[in-house]
Amino acid sequence: ADGDPKAGAAIFRKCSACHTATEPVNRVGPSLMGVFGRPVASYSGYGYSDAMRAFGAEGKVWDEATLSDYLLSPTAMVSGTRMSFPGLKKPADIADVIAYLKNPVPG
Ligand code: HEM
Repeated sequence: ADGDPKAGAAIFRKCSACHTATEPVNRVGPSLMGVFGRPVASYSGYGYSDAMRAFGAEGKVWDEATLSDYLLSPTAMVSGTRMSFPGLKKPADIADVIAYLKNPVPG
């Protein structure tokens, strides 16, 4: 089922210490503006970990499948990623935050 971008805006508060999805600005983590459909580790001016660059070198893109797996457990999918975040355990929360990333409406 498709997620709810408004609910996703609330979930995204867990991400916003390190990311914005509405500005072309890198924080601790890269800007997530336009991340849906974007090649992994490709945001201009951001210094990704070797682990994330190696993962992206295979030509992967952030889509429903890759975002769902990564947000469930970042380190399980990309061993050695610098993203210190345990993951979102509820599938509905993951679907909602992906809907928000596609369409970053105000909460
Ligand atoms: C990378 C999403 C929470 C720090 C990424 C990437 C995505 C993402 C999609 C890869 C971006 C790319 O390839 O350009 C999220 C979401 C979060 C979240 C949706 C909340 C559910 C956090 C938090 C932190 C963080 C809380 C800081 C404590 C980072 C860092 C990277 C990253 C440092 C780069 C990782 C590397 O190069 O290995 N995040 N993130 N993220 N994120 Fe997050």
